[in-house]
Amino acid sequence: MRAMKNIVILISGRGSNMQAIVHAARAGGWPARIAAVISNRPDAAGLAFAQAQGIPTAVVANREFPNRECFDAALQREIDRFAPDLVVLAGFMRILTEPFVAHYAGRMLNIHPSLLPSFPGLATHRQALAAGVRVHGATVHFVTADLDHGPIVAQAAVAVEAGDTESSLAERVLAQEHIIYPEAVRCFVEDRLAIDNGLVRVAPPVQA
Ligand code: GAR
Repeated sequence: MRAMKNIVILISGRGSNMQAIVHAARAGGWPARIAAVISNRPDAAGLAFAQAQGIPTAVVANREFPNRECFDAALQREIDRFAPDLVVLAGFMRILTEPFVAHYAGRMLNIHPSLLPSFPGLATHRQALAAGVRVHGATVHFVTADLDHGPIVAQAAVAVEAGDTESSLAERVLAQEHIIYPEAVRCFVEDRLAIDNGLVRVAPPVQA
């Protein structure tokens, strides 16, 4: 029997990726539990969903801290109360300090709405439309000190259609995010991900 893993999910807003992971974890019989959902914003809409699911929630409001270092230290203390095996950034819109990233090295995932290494940063769908790319998408990656970079776990591509707007493109990419993020988290909790020289190897599922 594999030990149950604790997952802590960080959100800043809507939390639709968090919801997709919560649903998949429940449905899929993962060897993991969602130990907590933590937000840097007290008004994050996703908190209500987590509470309704009976998942412990917490807010560490970045506005209440004088600088990034103090905020990240407080956030780390709060996360570590839940003894996480994995920290999942799900629309967590913060630049993280190096000590924080180092503390969770190899056990923190992020999803970014572009095919990295294209279009790091904000407004990725606008960037994709401005660049005229024919293919856009989303990436799940391990978090490193390099913003929106790090070993790639999963990607999904969508075709850019003539007449696409930022919001139509965002909607199609988000639908893919909701597929690849739960799957990537599942691979992690099943111990199927290995980082080898900066590249992620994904082992096949073990047959029951
Ligand atoms: C998602 O599209 C996610 O990829 C993006 O924010 C959105 C959050 O939506 N993340 C980033 O841009 C991180 N750089 P959600 O709160 O509904 O999951």
